Amino acid sequence: MSNSPFSLLILLFYTIFVSAHPPEDTIYTLRVPTLEETSFDNLLSFGYYHKSCPLFESILHRKVKEWIQKDYTLAASLLRLHFHDCSVRGCDASILLNHDGSERTAQASKTLRGFEVIDDIKEELEKHCPRTVSCADILTGATRDATVELGGPYWAVPYGRKDGLVSIAKEAEMVPMGHENITSLVEFLQSKGLNVLDLVVLSGAHTTGRASCGSIQHRLYNYQGTGRPDPSIDPKYLSFLQRKCRWATEYVDLDATTPRIFDPVYYINLKKKMGLLSTDQLLYSDPRTSPIVSALAAAPYVFKHHFAVSIAKLGNIEVLTGQDEGEIRTNCNLINAY
Ligand code: HEM
Ligand SMILES: *[C@@H]1O[C@H](CO)[C@@H](O)[C@H](O)[C@H]1NC(C)=O
Repeated sequence: MSNSPFSLLILLFYTIFVSAHPPEDTIYTLRVPTLEETSFDNLLSFGYYHKSCPLFESILHRKVKEWIQKDYTLAASLLRLHFHDCSVRGCDASILLNHDGSERTAQASKTLRGFEVIDDIKEELEKHCPRTVSCADILTGATRDATVELGGPYWAVPYGRKDGLVSIAKEAEMVPMGHENITSLVEFLQSKGLNVLDLVVLSGAHTTGRASCGSIQHRLYNYQGTGRPDPSIDPKYLSFLQRKCRWATEYVDLDATTPRIFDPVYYINLKKKMGLLSTDQLLYSDPRTSPIVSALAAAPYVFKHHFAVSIAKLGNIEVLTGQDEGEIRTNCNLINAY
């Protein structure tokens, strides 16, 4: 066949016509799978709970909304919990296990919150569809709904993750804590299949939520042994932080300007030397990441679109989907006893 636009047009017309009016004995029909039938590498799928727990997403949505209306800071906590879960042994709810020496007991997990939200959703789901929906899927879906509650993007979450059986505190200490250099952040995310763009875009989750002063105290007085504060902090912002952070247990908003809204102001703050964590501010000084910061600061819709893409990637890291992999926990805090 020739490559002329005209023949392409005929082909298109033919395809539409034939699939719309299939002759009686046609066996070749063009059938596009619906979203529900689509699966990723035959692992996760959008219709996973369609038959086994049709109410899953509406229960999830209602519960997340209720919790966040009571306390909007829980939205940020869910986002971070999902990141910490997926960063260690993939998105398998290993962060939720609450036993001696589990990830949850690690120093790096000390300020994680939102566990009660997942427990509450799980309890409700066990009433409607017992032993059906995994804790890993609940956390992934709750993260999406929490993002939407803050005015962030919506993305379709494929389901079918199983809950892991292994959770080791030492492994949780590998999750970046805000004092790393860009190379080690890039390498950490690369080991999970995420790239530099994902790093900058996902750091945009710091458009909401807060950090404990302990995470930034090294920037405030004696940065890298210089006896002076980190020079990449705006002077006014620095004096605000020094006043606010007299105790390591105090909290400061990660986005100094619009902490309740999921917007690209986080990137605008970086351009004004008002990034809270040193890993935030470094994104604007490192040549590998600063052009991306500038691009995202200027385009709210690009940020939201890319956030949905990158966090969907995050949610698919090393998921357990095989017949004999993992389990469906009945209580997200405990490995099943049976
Ligand atoms: C890759 C580099 C990252 C580093 C170095 C980092 C570091 C941190 C640190 C140090 C805190 C404050 C913890 C505290 O002091 O209590 C924090 C909070 C937070 N992080 Fe990240 N993070 C990173 C990536 C992410 C990602 C990928 C997400 C989500 C997609 C995320 C979401 C959050 C949220 C929402 C909070 C606020 C939590 C709350 O208010 O409870 N972070 N992060
Ligand atoms: C970045 O941090 C890693 C780990 O702490 C260290 O080995 C490396 O030398 C650092 N790289 C630069 C360029 O400072």
